[in-house]
Amino acid sequence: MTFMTTLSGDESPTLLAGEVPFDISEMFFSRTDNCGVILAGSDVFRRVLGLDWENLVGSPHNVMRHADMPKGMFHIMWEHLKQGHAVGVYIKNRSKDGRFCWVFAVATPTDDGYLSVCLKPSSPILDKIDEIYAQVVTAEADGMTPAKSSQLLTELLQSEGYANYMVFQSLALVTEVTSRAKRMERPVEGWQTRFRLMADSIMDIQNETEQMLHAFRSIRTVPMNMRILASRLEDSGGPISAISVNYGAMLGEMMSWVQSFSLGDDSPFARIRNSILKGQFLAFTALVQSDMVRLFNVRGATVSADFDIKTENELLRKQTAHYRFMATRALKIVELEVEHLARSVLDMKRYVTGLSSTRMMCKIESAMLEDSGDALAGILDQLDYCQATTEMRLSRISELNGLIQANTDMLKATA
Ligand SMILES: Cc1cc2nc3c(=O)[nH]c(=O)nc-3n(C[C@H](O)[C@H](O)[C@H](O)COP(=O)(O)O)c2cc1C
Repeated sequence: MTFMTTLSGDESPTLLAGEVPFDISEMFFSRTDNCGVILAGSDVFRRVLGLDWENLVGSPHNVMRHADMPKGMFHIMWEHLKQGHAVGVYIKNRSKDGRFCWVFAVATPTDDGYLSVCLKPSSPILDKIDEIYAQVVTAEADGMTPAKSSQLLTELLQSEGYANYMVFQSLALVTEVTSRAKRMERPVEGWQTRFRLMADSIMDIQNETEQMLHAFRSIRTVPMNMRILASRLEDSGGPISAISVNYGAMLGEMMSWVQSFSLGDDSPFARIRNSILKGQFLAFTALVQSDMVRLFNVRGATVSADFDIKTENELLRKQTAHYRFMATRALKIVELEVEHLARSVLDMKRYVTGLSSTRMMCKIESAMLEDSGDALAGILDQLDYCQATTEMRLSRISELNGLIQANTDMLKATA
């Protein structure tokens, strides 16, 4: 472990090992100017760092930087903040005495700088993040730039199933807030459950579409097999051949519907997922900020010499209101996207109906054929199965979409 920054007033610190006490019921906040220079913070912040206000105020925030933190992570953090976005980050901090303190920080831009509220992470995500950070730090030690290592970090998160950083920070924040509430035996509020239901529903929709694509791929060779069969039947195979062409075209359309729905960063699926998770992240950002205000009020607090608790309280309240508003705005996008999906599912249902009539024609032809009826019946069984499961999956997608729609409406109504 190496020290990154010489702490002011830190001539000969006695170094300790282990973790700085930071109770699950505690939280801390800090506020900086536009360059990340600390302007104010709560007393827990100062205690965890082990510094006096004189040494803290005016110092850059990297005064608490721990060598186990990858540069790429701060690159992601600053990119979000500079673009005016809130960001959630697992940060391992270093105290003046050398001990560490993990936090989940929710940092947001203010009118003239940035503000961060930190809670103690207590979910299993932390262990995974610790591993990921270690890999990125190793890559950086081999000369990888922060811009490149931020990409590596994102890829490592993707390999854990988080499609992008928004998805990660939203799920991580919710998981940490929920885990903290559980440890503190606090109830989970209704709106939190609604967001979780919506996030789960969109993931279930993804699963249904993936299964549909899989089913279509497995019958991709059917039209070709029908054509082979038709060619063996010579003249009497004409109708089968025509049906196979029809079938092939419909299958192609259905596959391209599923692909364009679910693949890529700008697919309807990705847009709904991103807007739900963004709404969730913003609503939980407002929640931790309001919790910080509550803690100020319950415990009383001191903040740096130059600012008073009233100023910080007001700022946090303003931030809370802003992020609640932003969460509602994200929900409006969810609303538009789910309406769009509902219409799109109707298109897909039409394809399936078309498929059904083609299949009926195929059945009639099969009954009329004496020798090759069995081969055609086998193909038909495959198609029957694919059609039945597609219909089932489409109904499930409509149901899940309806669930998202209903929860969006309720969240908006109670916002
Ligand atoms: C509001 C805010 C809160 C921050 N909180 C921390 C923190 O808790 N720990 C930390 O190491 N860096 C924090 N940073 C990031 C630091 O400014 C800095 O980018 C980071 O420590 C990396 O330092 P370096 O750029 O000198 O490598 C914060 C920045 C802002 C704007």
